[in-house]
Amino acid sequence: MANVLFIKANGLPAERSVSVKLYEEFLKNYKASNAGDTITELDLFQADLPYYDATMMSGLFKESTGETLTEDEARLAKVANSYLEQFLAADKVVMAFPLWNFSIPAQFLTYLFYLNQAGKTFKYTAQGPVGLVTDKEVVLLNARGGVYSDGPMANWEMSLNYVKNILTHFGITNPQTVVVEGHNAAPDQAQDLIAAGVKEAGELATKF
Ligand SMILES: Cc1cc2nc3c(=O)[nH]c(=O)nc-3n(C[C@H](O)[C@H](O)[C@H](O)COP(=O)(O)O)c2cc1C
Repeated sequence: MANVLFIKANGLPAERSVSVKLYEEFLKNYKASNAGDTITELDLFQADLPYYDATMMSGLFKESTGETLTEDEARLAKVANSYLEQFLAADKVVMAFPLWNFSIPAQFLTYLFYLNQAGKTFKYTAQGPVGLVTDKEVVLLNARGGVYSDGPMANWEMSLNYVKNILTHFGITNPQTVVVEGHNAAPDQAQDLIAAGVKEAGELATKF
């Protein structure tokens, strides 16, 4: 029985969000096909996600060197580490997120910073960083109103590419993806594009 972490990086309701539509369809179908699994939902827009600030940084640094932490440093290091431990404990992870301003929501960025810890998700070697998370299956569900898969805007895509690069840095090199794109650029096709993505997410969930 797998331990599955579902991460939602959008606070909008499904009727106003394509990535949340993908998330809900995936979750519904996954649950129906994997009744015995332990499923944890992490809603990053409801979660306590303090900025990755100087106090948190120095707390995490001092932990790695064995120095004594102040009370604030210990509190913030514990926040980051609790999310990291939850992530590391999952056998499978599903991440749903939009492309906003060519990038990802700030809440998701903060969360990924918590996970990005030397000695935990990657290590430094003479050949460069090496990922330490090699036992996890990941699905990425992404929505973006314009078209970025090819054409002149491809280099501007810093949402899915960013998340894939961070995961590669952790050692997760083969996430499966469902992407809905172009629905704002071509409103006449929006319904079909979104419906196709939702269907794809539901089908992938039964095989994941
Ligand atoms: C704050 C914000 C910023 C956005 N920035 C972009 C953008 O840079 N490029 C783009 O193609 N679409 C952009 N969009 C449109 C979204 O990519 C589109 O609405 C997509 O469906 C987002 O996922 P969601 O529906 O789950 O929110 C933006 C939308 C919002 C709300």
